[in-house]
Amino acid sequence: MCGIVGYVGTKQAYPIVVKGLKRLEYRGYDSAGIALLNNKQINLYKKKGKVADLEEFTLGKSLEGSTAIGHTRWATHGEPSDRNAHPHLSQSGEIAMIHNGIIENYASLKEDLLKKGYQFKSDTDTEVLLNFIEDIYINNGGNLEEALRVALKRVVGAYCILLIENKNPETIIAARKGSPLVIGIGKNEHFLASDASPIIEYTKEVVYVNDYEIAIVKPDELILKNLGNEKQTPFITKLDIELDTIEKGGYDHFMLKEIFEQPKTIYDCLRGRLNAEKGSINISGIEDYLDEISNAPRIIIIACGTSWHAGLIAEYIIEETCRIPVEVEYASEFRYRNPIVHKGDMIVAISQSGETADTIVAIEKAKEQGAIIMGIVNVVGSSISRISQTGAYTHAGPEIGVASTKAFTGQLAALMMIAFKIAHHRKTITEERFFHLCEELSFVPEKVERILQMNDEIKAVAETLKDASDTLFLGRGYNFPIALEGALKLKEISYIHAEGYPAAEMKHGPIALVDENLPVIFVATKDVYHEKIISNMQEIKARKGKVIAIINEGDTITPKIADAVIAIPETDEIIAPILNVIPLQLLSYHIGIARGCNVDMPRNLAKSVTVE
Ligand code: F6R
Repeated sequence: MCGIVGYVGTKQAYPIVVKGLKRLEYRGYDSAGIALLNNKQINLYKKKGKVADLEEFTLGKSLEGSTAIGHTRWATHGEPSDRNAHPHLSQSGEIAMIHNGIIENYASLKEDLLKKGYQFKSDTDTEVLLNFIEDIYINNGGNLEEALRVALKRVVGAYCILLIENKNPETIIAARKGSPLVIGIGKNEHFLASDASPIIEYTKEVVYVNDYEIAIVKPDELILKNLGNEKQTPFITKLDIELDTIEKGGYDHFMLKEIFEQPKTIYDCLRGRLNAEKGSINISGIEDYLDEISNAPRIIIIACGTSWHAGLIAEYIIEETCRIPVEVEYASEFRYRNPIVHKGDMIVAISQSGETADTIVAIEKAKEQGAIIMGIVNVVGSSISRISQTGAYTHAGPEIGVASTKAFTGQLAALMMIAFKIAHHRKTITEERFFHLCEELSFVPEKVERILQMNDEIKAVAETLKDASDTLFLGRGYNFPIALEGALKLKEISYIHAEGYPAAEMKHGPIALVDENLPVIFVATKDVYHEKIISNMQEIKARKGKVIAIINEGDTITPKIADAVIAIPETDEIIAPILNVIPLQLLSYHIGIARGCNVDMPRNLAKSVTVE
């Protein structure tokens, strides 16, 4: 949430920062702004709307300067507007600042500053923090680094901030707590950003700044300090991402590109870990913890949104194959409700970004109580991956579309491998079953490819649904969470109201909604519930509802009942969710497009929710 970019070096900063903001726009697109330092003078440009609106606004303006900070905003405090856009200028006009996060005690800080005569030009918590820093700066003789350090000791909340000041034109001062910051190291230049995507075309050498660290960044120098003013050694990491993975590559939208990448991304997740011929699974990140995981009295899965849906599927799979009790928690609920966690409990945090604020706090809390943390994370080097003691990367590559697609199937692939591996280790499944599951999992990329070839057919079904105002998604067993995920995808991409339910629950309420105007999407591939879900379909048809069903090839019964079917390849019912979600992703995409929605940047949303 909110994208931050900074550049300090010898080149013109504006094009670099604006390009970086475009790469980070998926993190927020309510407004964009940039502050350039030229001749000891800060020039500030900011605009409500997208980065393209900022570019239009800056046409013909003076954009000189080799030091700049830029921001793309997802609004928290204060509506999206020009005046609430970042960067903000301090009262004296000497310091400019951008911020990602929330300052929780901003109201009391503001009250104190108002008493001292400060006036505010925006409704943001950021401007309060900035003037709070400036107030200390004025009293300490103009030492910005020191003022920041003192201020941060009084701040409650989360932040990644970048500061520049008139009198120090070749320095950016940055700090983080809870919101990510990566610094790219170039030759006589440094790049700062919320994630690596604005950096990779210039350098592959980066430093991930830790919580409670302050970075003093000049063209040829990077100093890291803790809040106690002690120097820290920057740990340089080599980025393993290529530029084409963050570009649209000929697709109209990132979402479509990412849906179509899934045969490869799932393969990348399985590669080197799953050996179907030998019947073995080796995941380097969990090998050392096999006994702890296998003997855990309980597994608690913590996640948000789509990642939470992956957690629900994992619950079904782990309980079935490993016979270990599993609970699945929304991170935002878990962190505040004084949960019971025992030493040795295994906490599984699932997160695409690895930066979701609620998930981070929830697992930190559980870790303090003695739990072991397993991270199922996509972004390498992210906070959750660093907090985790064990786990697996999903290797889906950068996911830019705000609605999660390939990261979800990567999570499922990783979780399935871990569940099968643990079940095998615990001997709660037979050798034959383990071998069969490994084999079926290895066929998934090719089966996903076959489903993607049905794109035109799915688009035709989407056309029949585009004018719906409400929809119901139903599934049972492993497919119940897929119904939830199908509903979430549709509502975020098309703004059509959608609800996911276990199919049998329908009779306990939602069936009241059914009439000839309500499309009901069934996830009805072959499993132990198949006959029962067909009865549920009949119940909808009896009330004139419109039924669309995801079924398996060779099913001759469902097409006679449903108004439309999408028939996909069959697999073991445990593995089926990873296939069944693909047509639902495509359905949402095409419905969103048919309704003229911005599928890559749906309204009000942002990727990587770094505020609670
Ligand atoms: C929905 C979506 C969100 C995320 C959620 C968690 O399409 O993308 O629901 O799944 O915000 O984000 P991560 O996985 O980054 O923790």
